[in-house]
Amino acid sequence: MLLVKAARDARVKAYAPYSQFKVGAAIRAASGAIYQGVNVENVAYPEGTCAEAGAIAAMVMGGETEIAEVAVIADSPSPVPPCGGCRQKLAEFAGKDVKVTLATLQGEVLETTVGALLPGAFGTGHMVSPSEDGM
Ligand code: THU
Repeated sequence: MLLVKAARDARVKAYAPYSQFKVGAAIRAASGAIYQGVNVENVAYPEGTCAEAGAIAAMVMGGETEIAEVAVIADSPSPVPPCGGCRQKLAEFAGKDVKVTLATLQGEVLETTVGALLPGAFGTGHMVSPSEDGM
């Protein structure tokens, strides 16, 4: 629950004047360090970024690229699922078995994994190098 608390503490700093939907995320990286992120919206709506993306950016800035655990929280009637793009972003740095805890401010919690959130993920194994395919 430490990671959920970190996500909850982050969430209050979200910049969400358009949706009013504040989201907080926290990542525990391989070193044990915790990185927080919030959604940052923009008047040009598609330019906004999700809380998960912010936490990933903080982790990379901290010199780490391996996610050990993730938590996301919002004031939602049920635990908020990461968007499709964030599932792919998390999969870049997390193995399939990495635990993802989705939480509401009211205390409802749903535990899942990166693999369950993004079955059949596109990965490096799907790319064939030019030398291998003869081009
Ligand atoms: N949002 C996140 O930050 N993470 C999620 O997992 C779901 C959605 C944000 C994006 C936008 O700022 C707001 O929630 C409403 O979609």
